[in-house]
Amino acid sequence: MNPLKHVAIIMDGNGRWGLKNKKSRNAGHKEGLNTVEKIIKTSIKNKIKYLTLYAFSTENWKRPKKEINFLFDLLENFLVNRIDELHEKNIKLKIIGVKNFSTKLNKLLNYSEKKTIKNTKLQINLALNYGSKFELINAFKSLNKNKENINEKNLSKYLQTNNIPDPDLLIRTGNTKRLSNFLLWQLAYSEIFFEKKLWPEFSEKDYNRIIKKFKNIKRNYGNI
Ligand code: FPP
Repeated sequence: MNPLKHVAIIMDGNGRWGLKNKKSRNAGHKEGLNTVEKIIKTSIKNKIKYLTLYAFSTENWKRPKKEINFLFDLLENFLVNRIDELHEKNIKLKIIGVKNFSTKLNKLLNYSEKKTIKNTKLQINLALNYGSKFELINAFKSLNKNKENINEKNLSKYLQTNNIPDPDLLIRTGNTKRLSNFLLWQLAYSEIFFEKKLWPEFSEKDYNRIIKKFKNIKRNYGNI
């Protein structure tokens, strides 16, 4: 059985779910947050150590301002109301991406990271204003010009996921098969599951079914 340490998720389909069921994309994001909570609980039950969630990409700034504001208000309220509970549950929160939001949100994100930094049960990496190509370009820039320094180990050190093992498993909901500039380097050998269900419909049962399948896959890493 494969060990499962790190699950990464592209939480796609909120907008479509919201339009279909509540005539509003934002209602889909709100419902999507409930799925986030379920998946956190189920990750702990499955003894997963790292959960990386793609919440906002560098490309998502192209969306209407009203939707962007709604998403960040949702995040802000979530942290204000729930960070103590996450801390009590021994959960560590780390932001990956560029924190260039409002001063208030930046402060709240820094506070939440600092408060939970020593926690050990589950680490949630929340990808916010994250883009993998930008992350890679920055890592290459940070590497010394000396060509000898350019190797896998050194490059990984300059990624935002430094010290975090690569994801074993990537799940993308929403019936779309693409990576959308998410963890392009780190996903090199991950097992990938594309799910038809939209993120707000994705259940504990669906997650457990994928985990079970993942555990029985023969992972070769290029070997036979
Ligand atoms: C993609 O669905 C989802 C997002 C861009 C936002 C993800 C946000 C959440 C799950 C809720 C908030 C989370 C936190 C941690 C506060 P989409 O809008 O692209 O869906 P579509 O493909 O149907 O349009």
